[in-house]
Amino acid sequence: MSVKNQPNAGKLISSLRNTGYDSYTAIQDIVDNSIDAGARRIEVSVKTVDGEPRIMIADNGSGMSMEILDEALKLGSATQKDEMSDLGKYGMGLCTASISLSRKLQVISRKSGGPYLYSSQDLDEIILENEFIKDRREATNDEINLFKKEVNDESGTLVILSKIDRLSNTNLSIFAGTLAGSMGRIYRKFIDSNINISVNGKKVEAVDPLMLSLKGSTVYSDEEYTVPTKSGKDKIQVKVVILPDVNEQLEKEMKMNTHSQGFYILRNNREIANGLTLDIFRRHNDFNRLRLELSFTSNLDNEMGVRFTKDGVSPNQAISDFLKQEIGGQIASIRKIFLKSRIADSSKEIDHEESASVIAKKSKLLITPDAIIERRAARTNVEPRDKPEKEGTERDRVPKETRVSSSGLGARFETLAMGKNGPLYDCYQEGKVVVIQWNVDHPFYEKIIFMNKDRKDITAGIDYLIYALAAAELKTTNDDNSELIGTIKSIMSANLCSLLS
Ligand SMILES: Nc1ncnc2c1ncn2[C@@H]1O[C@H](COP(=O)(O)OP(=O)(O)OP(=O)(O)O)[C@@H](O)[C@H]1O
Ligand SMILES: [Mg+2]
Repeated sequence: MSVKNQPNAGKLISSLRNTGYDSYTAIQDIVDNSIDAGARRIEVSVKTVDGEPRIMIADNGSGMSMEILDEALKLGSATQKDEMSDLGKYGMGLCTASISLSRKLQVISRKSGGPYLYSSQDLDEIILENEFIKDRREATNDEINLFKKEVNDESGTLVILSKIDRLSNTNLSIFAGTLAGSMGRIYRKFIDSNINISVNGKKVEAVDPLMLSLKGSTVYSDEEYTVPTKSGKDKIQVKVVILPDVNEQLEKEMKMNTHSQGFYILRNNREIANGLTLDIFRRHNDFNRLRLELSFTSNLDNEMGVRFTKDGVSPNQAISDFLKQEIGGQIASIRKIFLKSRIADSSKEIDHEESASVIAKKSKLLITPDAIIERRAARTNVEPRDKPEKEGTERDRVPKETRVSSSGLGARFETLAMGKNGPLYDCYQEGKVVVIQWNVDHPFYEKIIFMNKDRKDITAGIDYLIYALAAAELKTTNDDNSELIGTIKSIMSANLCSLLS
């Protein structure tokens, strides 16, 4: 005999506070609903009211009928959605996003010409009663007045979050500033199509991470790819952009760093992740000028690994391999272009043969990253490009990689001109070799290494030191610490430069 099996409301709703939203993504998920409702104006306010923080999201979208409002304040709401354009899909956003931040959710909504409706849910009451209870009725005069003040239009919705106990920054003006900054980037396509978004009364301006309006930004490629999915017809668009070569100061101001390089992911035109490597390249200063915009529609959510919080992607193996082949080759070519512009005068090179040979002999004894063995990928399910290859670029398919542990890595030494104030050295891994690039412009190279080029004992000692540092850097760098490691290296290089200048 089947019996009803209601969840334990108090426990469930408390656990659902930890579904992985951060304070910003939670508010943005509520803003997504306003966009889906066709709002042309969305006003977010983050303020202290009666000594308590309060967040309001007001929109002049279509508003809700009582039936929809009833669904809206339900976990797993069932409403009609369009997969190719709507930002919402899972029927979870409003409830889960609001409880991740606050204990009380109130919604006042009106369809044009219809009644003003009110619904609210209070976490403390749900826990106390151990039932999914909510308030739902026509709005009172005070609520109607608040709606008129905040929405200021015929139809729309006002979402109010109070009893806020989980805001990531209790300094509300700093929080609002960061929120506005990220919303400018996340909703850039909507702002560009004249949807007016404001935070605390200040208009949010579109921020384009590809910086296409900047003189010198170049689109390296912009193509639609048919990706390997069951239907065989699904498409994603990838735009590869090279930012202009600016001086160090501007680079810092424009936040062109290891953190911001890489993929910006748009799902139904709304950004859901930024600055990802997608395991296609390793973060490195060489890629600070590389930005890619990858766009897809939400019918690919499963393949792209989109969670209901819509903050990040984790493409499945087939798509990941596909991107490695199609985009990895382009990234490798771009790196070569970047490196070419910094090739040093060959007269500055010195002989590293002996030290490279000692390192190779002892490589099995050394602590290094795992070797990368490349194996050719079979090209399956991939449609031929419909456009001819770009002239003068090598767009080889990138082979699949296998990481093999326990083999130590050898060394190769190169020279690059990276400026007096640039890093002392740079490094990357190529298969079974740590490639070390000495910066010939750094005074340490000029005054210590090059000056002693005939003293093999000195140059070998320095080679071992730099190899040891580079191997440690490559072994330990990951997405979380790459910025810190970059900072340590740049401070070290600057101090050494001052000491020797
Ligand atoms: N601001 C709004 N204006 C009009 N309707 C809204 C608004 N906010 C929510 N709704 C309605 O409530 C429903 C539930 O919203 P909710 O965010 O919980 O789920 P969803 O948007 O359908 O999916 P997702 O979990 O992916 O966000 C929406 O589908 C929509 O019909
Ligand atoms: Mg939603």
